[in-house]
Amino acid sequence: MGLTLDKDWWRQAVIYQIYPRSFKDSNGDGLGDLKGVTSKIDYLSSLNIDAVWLSPFYPSALADGGYDVDDYRDVDPKLGTLDDFDEMLSKLHEVGIRVFVDIVPNHSSNLHEWFKEAIASEPGSAARNRYIFRDGKGANGELPPTNWPSHFAPSAWTHESAYGGKHNQWYCHLFAPEQPDFNWDNREVEEDFLKTLKFWADRGVDGFRIDVAHALKKDLSEPLKDQDRYPDLTNRKPGDNILFDRDEVHEIYKEWRQLFNQYDPPRVAVAEAYVPADRLALYASPEELGQAFNFELLEANFNAHEFKTVIDRGISAAKVQGSSSTWCLNNHDQMRPATKYGLLTSVDRIRWKNSGGATSPLDEEMGVRCALAASMLIMALPGCTYIYQGEELGLHEVLDIPEDQIQDPQYLRNHKVDKGRDGCRVPLPWTRSGTSFGFGTGGAHLPQPKWFAEKSVEAESGVENSPLEIFRKALALRKNLVAAEELTWHKTSDANVLHFSRPNGWHCITNFGRNHYNFAGVGEVIHSSGPLAEAGIFLIHGVETQGNDLPPATTVWLRA
Ligand code: NOJ
Repeated sequence: MGLTLDKDWWRQAVIYQIYPRSFKDSNGDGLGDLKGVTSKIDYLSSLNIDAVWLSPFYPSALADGGYDVDDYRDVDPKLGTLDDFDEMLSKLHEVGIRVFVDIVPNHSSNLHEWFKEAIASEPGSAARNRYIFRDGKGANGELPPTNWPSHFAPSAWTHESAYGGKHNQWYCHLFAPEQPDFNWDNREVEEDFLKTLKFWADRGVDGFRIDVAHALKKDLSEPLKDQDRYPDLTNRKPGDNILFDRDEVHEIYKEWRQLFNQYDPPRVAVAEAYVPADRLALYASPEELGQAFNFELLEANFNAHEFKTVIDRGISAAKVQGSSSTWCLNNHDQMRPATKYGLLTSVDRIRWKNSGGATSPLDEEMGVRCALAASMLIMALPGCTYIYQGEELGLHEVLDIPEDQIQDPQYLRNHKVDKGRDGCRVPLPWTRSGTSFGFGTGGAHLPQPKWFAEKSVEAESGVENSPLEIFRKALALRKNLVAAEELTWHKTSDANVLHFSRPNGWHCITNFGRNHYNFAGVGEVIHSSGPLAEAGIFLIHGVETQGNDLPPATTVWLRA
C-alpha cells in the first residue's frame, strides 16, 4: 500500500497519539516500547488512521513521563534502539501510516549531557549559557532571582546545589526541577535543534509535534523582571509577556520551516501553544509550523451551543492561519472524555479525581455515549482529527491509582493539589485476561483496574456497537467521505441538536439533548455512534411524519 504522494495529506488527516510507555510492552519489563508498537501495526491499520504521533520515546528518567529528555537523538534503551525505530517507521510506512515525533525544545532533562556540563562549569561559561542560570537575590544569593512560577513546582528556579553545583547559582525551569529550560537566545541551542529535526526528518519521520511551542523565548534582559503568575495572554498586548508567546519565537519556526521544506514531501508540524486564537495563527501559518492544536473542545461541555461556538471559531481561525482546523477531545494531559462527559457539568473535576470519584456519581454509560457522539462529530468536521490511544475503546479515567504509585510530577511536585494525569496514561488493555490484559508479560507500570477486561481490544473487537467497532467503521467511511474543507450548518427544530453537511452531501447530526430527534428526509443513514431508535411516527409542526429517530447523546452520518 505505502504512502500517498499527496503533499497536502496532513490537512484533513486522522492522527492517532501513541503514548509509547503505555501502548504495548514487547519484552515484559512493564513498560511499553517501540517493538510493542511494531507488533500492533495490524491493529493500527485496522483503525484506518493516516498517521501516528508518538509522545517522547527518548532516553529519560521519566521525571515527567518522557517530556524530560536526556538525548534528543536516541531511543531510550528501556524502549528499544534506533534500529527498532527504523523498523517501526518503515513498517508503518508500508501500511500507509505516517509518523510524527514529539520535539521538546523548551527544556531538556537534568540528565542531558549539556546540563551536567553546565552544573560542573563556572558561572558565565559557555556551558552554563545554554541554560538560564542566574545569581540569587538576598544578601547571600539565597533567594530565587525572580518570582516566576513553574507548572509543577512553586518556583521556576532551583538552586544548583540540588544537582551538586557549587557556585551558588539558580537555574530556571518552567516545569519540574528535572526539566531545565534552554536559553533560546543562544545560537548553539537553535543549531542543535535544527540538527535534531534533521536527524529525524532524514530517517523518514513525516511530522513533528512541538511541545510548549510558545515558551521558548523569554525576556532575559537584565535585570530580570518579576511575574508571579501565569499570564492571561488574552488580556495582554500580544507578544509582550516575559515568559510566553514572545514575538521573537516566530523567528525560530520560520527557520524550521525552511528546513521542513527541503524535504519531499515537506515535513509537517503541529504546535502545542496555549495562546489566543489570533496569536495561534502565527504558529500555524505556512511560513512557520503549518498547524496548531485547537484545544478549545477540551474545555467544552457536551453541549450544542458550546460545540458550535468552538467549531465556528476554529474554522474561521484556520482560514486566517492558512492552515487546516484541528480537533481533539483528549490527549495524555487530559481527563478521558468519557469520564468528563459522564459527570455533571457542575462537578469540580480536580476535587472529584482527588476523592477517587467520591464527591459525585459518574454516569459511565452516558459518558461513553457522549464521547462517541462527540468523536463522530469531530471526525466529520473539515480538518484534522487527533485521537488519543484508548479513546477508541471508550476508556474511562482510571481513578484508583494508589498514592505510592502516582508518577505525575503535576501531583508530586505541586503540593499534591491535583492527582494529575496518570489516570489517562494507564497501559492499554489488549485482552480480556492474562498478565496486564495483554499489555505485556511483566505487569504494567501503572496499575490497571479490573474493568479494563471488558474494555479491552479483544472484548470489543467484532462486537456490533462497541466503541472500537464504531470508531473503525467511522474512520473507514471517513477516508472516502472527506471533501473540500467547507461546512454548511442546517437549522434544526431543537436547539440541542447540531446539523451540518460537507460539500459532497455528507451530513452529520448530533443530538446533545435529552429528547429524541427526528431527522426524516435528510438522506440515507450510513453510520451512527450508537443504535438509532426504530423509525416511527413523529409530529412535526402538527403534521404526522414518518421518519428516523436520533436518541440523546448520539451522532448520525447520512448521505443526502
Ligand atoms: C506539554 C506536554 O503535553 C506535557 O505532558 C508535559 O508535561 C509538558 N508539556 C512539559 O513538557
